[in-house]
Amino acid sequence: MTKPLSIILASGSAGRKAMLDEVNISYEAIPADIDEQAIIQDMAAEMSEDIAQELAKQKALAIAKDHPEKLVIGSDQILVFEGKIISKAKTREEAAEKLTAMSGKTHSLISALSVVQGSQLLFAALDHADLTMKDDPAYLASYIQSADDSTLLSCVGAYKIEENGKALFSEIKGDKYTIMGMPLLELLDYLEKEQGLELTKTGVIGHPIAHSKSPLIHGYWIKKYGLQGTYSTIDIPPETLEEGVNDLIAKGYKGFNVTVPHKVAIMDLCNEIDETAKVIGAVNTIVIEDGKLWGSNTDAFGFIQNIKEQQPDFVFTKGAAIVLGAGGAARAIIYGLIKAGVPEIILTNRTKAKAEELAGHFSDLGKVSVMDWDRRVEALAGANLLVNTTALGMSGKAQLEISLEELPPEALVCDIVYAPLMTDLLSEARERGNNIVTGIGMLLHQARPGFELWHGQSPEVTEEVERLVLK
Ligand code: ATR
Repeated sequence: MTKPLSIILASGSAGRKAMLDEVNISYEAIPADIDEQAIIQDMAAEMSEDIAQELAKQKALAIAKDHPEKLVIGSDQILVFEGKIISKAKTREEAAEKLTAMSGKTHSLISALSVVQGSQLLFAALDHADLTMKDDPAYLASYIQSADDSTLLSCVGAYKIEENGKALFSEIKGDKYTIMGMPLLELLDYLEKEQGLELTKTGVIGHPIAHSKSPLIHGYWIKKYGLQGTYSTIDIPPETLEEGVNDLIAKGYKGFNVTVPHKVAIMDLCNEIDETAKVIGAVNTIVIEDGKLWGSNTDAFGFIQNIKEQQPDFVFTKGAAIVLGAGGAARAIIYGLIKAGVPEIILTNRTKAKAEELAGHFSDLGKVSVMDWDRRVEALAGANLLVNTTALGMSGKAQLEISLEELPPEALVCDIVYAPLMTDLLSEARERGNNIVTGIGMLLHQARPGFELWHGQSPEVTEEVERLVLK
């Protein structure tokens, strides 16, 4: 059991409270009432980093003097734009002006943290993030109109990246907690090393990684099951994969998910790889034990489990599956289908050579044949299952063109695209009476085995977590 820490958060900020809630650390929040302007003026010649650090310390000290036995966390955030420190807006109009001025340009957020006990500073940390805003007046106007006062007036940037504010940016470089107002990961690191906090650290590596949905899923489960843990997005460019992974081992990570472009390259760094990942030829889940990496692939499980939950009466062994696309997703899906006992798989892909390569990959397991992309409609006549594994139909991508006329009415239609959730393929199939399976469940179910391995708790896919991810 974790030793309970006696913590005060010297802040009334809902965002900072939410961060500690997310990792299930208990604390009491007491806002610190300090004269920030006086401190800033005294330090006018100093760097903004020093100002943020000083404010974080003063907030913590102000509370700590009345609670000498507690660990008091003080935090401060400063926004720097075009060499100037920008304060929180006082009115919605001011917030709109600020956002408009920052459009198309880059600003920095500096977040500082202090941990104080009595009059003693125990720990200080500072982190910064650079955010480049899109120049999109129409989106900005609708954002400002729909944002509530707590976003426009309580956040130094007048946006919340954890909500739809993320879409304001063309580039986000930095840790999300730093952007949300407190370098949480540094704090947790300190509490773990120096104060006996037990924490299960996990995350996802990729490049780019900012848009991953996985933190929402794992964060939700960590909170739901009351576990002390983190799930971070870790951006590692391909050329520094090994260093990046070694860094996670050194930091005591329990494991991590792997996404594009590392799913194949990570295999060389694994000490052991499970059978499924070996056959698929890609790893998406890592467990770290005694500094060694154990790799597995849960995509096939996620795909099959999603069908089993959404269509429990579907019989895999009843007939052929038609698979559209021959990319990374198709690899895992074909393996899942073979394991589930599908008697025949017909693979069709725009680039036929890729389909042939993939079919060849599974030739030992049998039953995968290739059909020309132009003849994809013909394959449908004998299908028990139709799966789209391409990105066609996704918002912003081309539509998947396929007539379902030949498809038997009892065949099941699946799409791995989940934005939109109801793709044209699925709505057309539903209209003509076919059963359908939407794509979001694959993402949710593939996350389950890793979560269970890391935390020893089997997580449940519920409508609530699905809604959260689709938001
Ligand atoms: P993933 O690894 O996520 O499956 P991918 O490897 O990029 O993604 O694969 C995307 C799949 O969508 C491929 O099968 C691709 O066909 P090609 O092999 O011919 O590239 C398919 N795809 C993408 N755009 C397409 C389009 N406009 N028409 C048909 N197929 C398309």
